[in-house]
Amino acid sequence: MSKKTVINIGLCGFGTVGQGVWKHLSRTRAELESRLGVGLEIRSIAVRNPRRKRTVKIPVRKLAADALAIANDPKIDIVCELMGGTDLAREITLTALQAGKVVVSANKALICAHGAEIFATARKHGGHFFFEASVAGGVPIIKALREGLVANRFPHIYGILNGTCNYILTQMEERDEAYASVLAEAKDLGYAEADEALDVQGWDAAHKAAVLAWLAHGIWVHPDQMIVEGIERITPADFKNATTLGFGIKLLAIITRDFATNELSVRVHPTLLPEGNVIANVSGVFNAISVTGDVVGTTLYIGKGAGQDATASAVISDIADAVALLRNGKGVHLTSEVVLPTGGHVKLAPLEHIRGRYYLRLTVKDEPGVLAQVASVMAKHHVSIASVIQSSAEAAGTASLVLTTHESHERAMRGTLRQLSRLRSVVDQPLLLRISDFNA
Ligand code: HSE
Repeated sequence: MSKKTVINIGLCGFGTVGQGVWKHLSRTRAELESRLGVGLEIRSIAVRNPRRKRTVKIPVRKLAADALAIANDPKIDIVCELMGGTDLAREITLTALQAGKVVVSANKALICAHGAEIFATARKHGGHFFFEASVAGGVPIIKALREGLVANRFPHIYGILNGTCNYILTQMEERDEAYASVLAEAKDLGYAEADEALDVQGWDAAHKAAVLAWLAHGIWVHPDQMIVEGIERITPADFKNATTLGFGIKLLAIITRDFATNELSVRVHPTLLPEGNVIANVSGVFNAISVTGDVVGTTLYIGKGAGQDATASAVISDIADAVALLRNGKGVHLTSEVVLPTGGHVKLAPLEHIRGRYYLRLTVKDEPGVLAQVASVMAKHHVSIASVIQSSAEAAGTASLVLTTHESHERAMRGTLRQLSRLRSVVDQPLLLRISDFNA
């Protein structure tokens, strides 16, 4: 019998995801090896602190201190960058690609910040970059866009891309509990990023939206070119108001392209979704993405978007793809190729063209004439009111006003908010949520 080829893997970073990869690769190794026709060996693992207590047992000889040495090691075929951050992670990724290796990454912030450079380096040096774990954890959305839906152009992609926020919003709604205490719980469960602001302020979802927008439209949109708003100011009362209006509230990433004008908009914000919408009913740490293709119609993807096992599942799928690529010869495997969709002239939509309905919550002095003042500001910006709900607010002498609008646009709403927050009768910063009409 001929000796089996062994593919050597290096792990840079051995936190939650790295340990998950070790655990599941060890568990399924025999089956994977038989399916892929090669031996799989995790040869080296770069860790910051070799003495740290871990949930998996690994031979000490596999531990290394220098992640860059793994990227440079000629014996290593596949480098998994699972450490996060954008400085050392970038150096390791570029070094490995320059050496013609395959890099597997779960690092959405890195791809968002340096994607263009990473793919150019891969192309130049014959390296390859796989990143299934970077968006929606265990949900194979990268493969779906890149392979399964390759025949399509995408007018709408939207969904829940941050499991931590979805967990927090679901718990707030179900338990009528305040944001801060549910956030603490999400952190204890290990869902949140090391810097939780990335989750709750919408940046993590924005990084993932940037990756999806690039795959679907061939253009890198930086988060500072997007509308990015988080969930920190949502209260249990907003869920009650939304329910009264027939909606749920989700933090959505929304990528829409008008193929007539070639305008693209990429945004992340809490959104009121019709309560019958499937995505409005996706709870907990789950992610859900609706992809509408011009050929296939609407397709839905739902699954765990965060956590050790789901993310390890995606990393191992990339390792399997990398093995297939290494075995069949570089450049022949579809997911390794960076073929941009023909989106040469895509441009970002101006604020006037980002249209929709809005939910506006104001805390106001409970005095005569206040509603008229608010209505007059909205009229000045040509924003038409569709409904009003008034209830007493927490502080004495104040009221909570919830207004919904007919269709307007982002520019008009910005002007409206600016002017409303200057009114003496408005006692707190207004909260603006978008209302979506997506049905599936
Ligand atoms: N903090 C991220 C989330 C982890 O909650 O979705 C997965 O990217």
